[in-house]
Amino acid sequence: MAHALDELIVNLDADFIIVGTGIAALRAAIDLGHAGKTIILTKSVATAGSTGYAQGGIAAAVGADDSPKQHAEDTVVAGDGLVDVGAARTLTESAPQAIKELIEWGVQFDRTESGELALAREGAHCCRRVLHVRDATGREISRALWNRLQATPNIRVIEDACVTDIVVIDGECVGVRFQTAGDEFEVVGACSTLFASGGAGYIFCETTNPEVATGDGIAIGYRAGAEITDMEFVQFHPTALACGEGSRFLLSEALRGEGAKLVNQQGQPFFSDTEDELSSRDRVARAIAREIERTGDVYLTFDGADADFVRKRFPLIADRCHRIGLDLATDRIPVVTAAHYLMGGIRTDQDGRTSVPRLFAAGEVACTGVHGANRLASNSLLEGLVFGAAAARAMCRDKTKQSQELSTRVRRKSISDATGANVEDTEDQVRALLWKYCGLFRNREGLTNVLDVCKGLRQEFDESGISPRVQSIVTVGELVARAALRREESRGAHYRTDFPQRNDIDWSRHTTISKYEDRI
Ligand code: SIN
Repeated sequence: MAHALDELIVNLDADFIIVGTGIAALRAAIDLGHAGKTIILTKSVATAGSTGYAQGGIAAAVGADDSPKQHAEDTVVAGDGLVDVGAARTLTESAPQAIKELIEWGVQFDRTESGELALAREGAHCCRRVLHVRDATGREISRALWNRLQATPNIRVIEDACVTDIVVIDGECVGVRFQTAGDEFEVVGACSTLFASGGAGYIFCETTNPEVATGDGIAIGYRAGAEITDMEFVQFHPTALACGEGSRFLLSEALRGEGAKLVNQQGQPFFSDTEDELSSRDRVARAIAREIERTGDVYLTFDGADADFVRKRFPLIADRCHRIGLDLATDRIPVVTAAHYLMGGIRTDQDGRTSVPRLFAAGEVACTGVHGANRLASNSLLEGLVFGAAAARAMCRDKTKQSQELSTRVRRKSISDATGANVEDTEDQVRALLWKYCGLFRNREGLTNVLDVCKGLRQEFDESGISPRVQSIVTVGELVARAALRREESRGAHYRTDFPQRNDIDWSRHTTISKYEDRI
């Protein structure tokens, strides 16, 4: 079915639109609601998304032996030469205040017996720095933010609203178009729009992310002409549970922070002299993948630890293990690596401004450069809070400057929705292909193969139409492959077997792609 041209009427329905309901979206909404009419669109139910899946915690230099400067230094080192140092400073200096605010809003972080905030250790942090609510930190933060939002004026949440396009008039974002549960297309207009629609882990067949994480914001932003940056940097979590169907259940890095060890099938440790369980995430993930290839399975084990402590500290994980007949405290738990987080995304400054006027982005969908080539563990919830709030402040400032004359008509393509079995087949095939060739180990031949398949599929879509979901998976997969093919070196989470060294002379820079040009 060919695309049809139709006429959209864009009215100023709100001051602000937010796409997404994760931590960056909710944090922004709390401020935006006080400044004007705010519409929140989510393609699923309000609580879907990756924030609720975050187990380990949120990093902040609140310990007596810590400082924002040290936190920034660890962030920069983990990012392997590509971190935007200014963004890292903003993130880490804002962290203690962001935590204070969460506590005021009711987040019940775990505390020590003497009442101090309990801090966990995670990979590549120089000290204990991760605040947590047992092993369900994201869920608790999300609960508190939703609670706060109940008391925020001017908020309207629309569920089952799958955003398919940004409406751009005269080069500016004036709203979005979305598909309703009843397959109708609707348009909402606003002074400014914030994409906080999360990451893209689900474009890979092995992932810790929920089904909704298909990178829609990036695909939509790209089609609207926004600059997309650092797409080659996909973080693979070292430890997901190697059992079960669908998304992989995350086995938090905090397990290793509390003493769990990684062993191979023979029960032997397998790290080299310069690495261990708490090295940066990219290194641990590659070491595990190589060991699985070499000897078979890899396991996490708490052998010898206080079993009571383990079960109390990690009740969610213990329960999941129990359901498959394993005891987290005493059994060896089989692990695999899985796509977890995207460092790249829609390029923004620290205020969430993208290259398209009136379009903002924050959280995993955005790329401020704060994570460089490899995100430091537990910096992602923090990123959502800090840069979600910064984007809201910038949107409020702009609102006072902007004229609210928006009612206008545009002629646009409507994307028809292909149905039928081959949509699911396409989705599964592309996700498997991306895992194989854009996963932990990449090379020119595999990446070229991905590009050819994605380009072919896009041509087919142009002729026949396709669901927005598959369109996102293919578009984002293609962006990852394009950037990964260009970067002829290995750095952070991006590893090329044909270019295994880091090459600072040629590659101390970001890759930027837009529909108009590739700027590497
Ligand atoms: C984890 O708990 O290991 C995940 C936290 C994160 O992605 O930073």
